[in-house]
Amino acid sequence: MSEFPLTNIGIGGHSRFRTNSGHGTPNVVHQRRIAVHIEVEIHHRCSLPHTEIEQVVLRLLLHKCNTFNNGSLTHLLQEPETAALCGKIVKSLVISDINLATPISFWQADLMLHLFRLCDHSPESDFLEADGGGQDQSLPVAEQWELPNTQLQGLWESIILDETIKSRLLSYCATSLQFSERRVNSNIISWNKMILLYGPPGTGKTSLCKALAQKIYIRHCNPTATISTASLHDMISIGPDGNMSLDFDMSTAPINHPTKRKQMVRYRSGLMFEVNCHSLFSKWFSESGKLVMKLFNHISEIAEDETCLTILLIDEVESIASARSSASSSGEPGDAIRVVNAVLTSLDSLKRKPNVLVMCTSNMISSLDEVRKNRGRADYGILFVFLGIP
Ligand SMILES: Nc1ncnc2c1ncn2[C@@H]1O[C@H](COP(=O)(O)OP(=O)(O)OP(=O)(O)O)[C@@H](O)[C@H]1O
Ligand SMILES: [Mg+2]
Repeated sequence: MSEFPLTNIGIGGHSRFRTNSGHGTPNVVHQRRIAVHIEVEIHHRCSLPHTEIEQVVLRLLLHKCNTFNNGSLTHLLQEPETAALCGKIVKSLVISDINLATPISFWQADLMLHLFRLCDHSPESDFLEADGGGQDQSLPVAEQWELPNTQLQGLWESIILDETIKSRLLSYCATSLQFSERRVNSNIISWNKMILLYGPPGTGKTSLCKALAQKIYIRHCNPTATISTASLHDMISIGPDGNMSLDFDMSTAPINHPTKRKQMVRYRSGLMFEVNCHSLFSKWFSESGKLVMKLFNHISEIAEDETCLTILLIDEVESIASARSSASSSGEPGDAIRVVNAVLTSLDSLKRKPNVLVMCTSNMISSLDEVRKNRGRADYGILFVFLGIP
């Protein structure tokens, strides 16, 4: 690490760090602190421990950023003075989900570094055997995505939505995982680890679920290193010209290392199962009950490992309801009830696992609106989110 030019940082002469209190120090004490999430993609070939990578990133930010706003900081890695080292360690740096119109000043920021490596694998199809009309058939019932996945990177930022929707989704998932981790009694606080996005076709429901799965994994996979820029306040010195310099050895920088504090949630791997409701409920309806049980048993086995964040995406969940009504009209109500029961009981037992989140999408706007209007306590802690036409 010694070749990195910023081992002892002296930023004297940088007008961006000029004092703003009139008393020789930045006015950090009275400023509202704002969390800035910085997603740090690590190069595959980099084998440095996370604590060292955090220090490299922090040095870079201290040296180059006077304010923070949403967007990519990857260009900082390509500048001549940083490319030699940072460029080999970090592949991209992105800030997202700041919901403020103006940039956050350096001194207001609580930096949260989320380190991750992307996985290049394409999603795999899960095939299950169905006995259709005397012939054994292999049906693709789910796609299995390894998280965080290259194909999903940048999707979250590309979806244009009211930012409050994105932050509600993120905080619901974070809180759900935290409650699970702490084994909060769901009879006392009603929460269900289930999100239902509904709205007209083409409004980004499926894309948003996939992007959310990726985001949640990145935010929770590794212990997050945090640093409050206010904690650097005592380490500044003011030069005769009135400019400030930060002068300390980065190895003693007050990074709040995750190993030293109690962590919320930590995962070593992440999988998203995108369930194809059409395959489950269309062709050989009498087989659906068995298929559902097979699929959920498979997911359940994977979710046994509590260090694997398991996300279940049930796309077009209304197929279950329409399968039920079509079966009733074709005189197969027994099968329909079995399938719906199989889905509900399997979902129920899956959700009890602390590392499982369920996301559903639906186009049945009017019936869901009705449910929400009359819901009382009947939403059971499910987060309903309507996506309209932008
Ligand atoms: N708000 C948005 N911002 C950016 N892109 C969007 C938005 N909404 C939809 N899209 C794009 O439109 C395409 C269709 O989106 P998607 O399949 O996620 O919609 P959907 O609501 O799941 O549709 P359906 O109900 O037909 O399944 C995707 O390429 C997606 O990126
Ligand atoms: Mg969809």
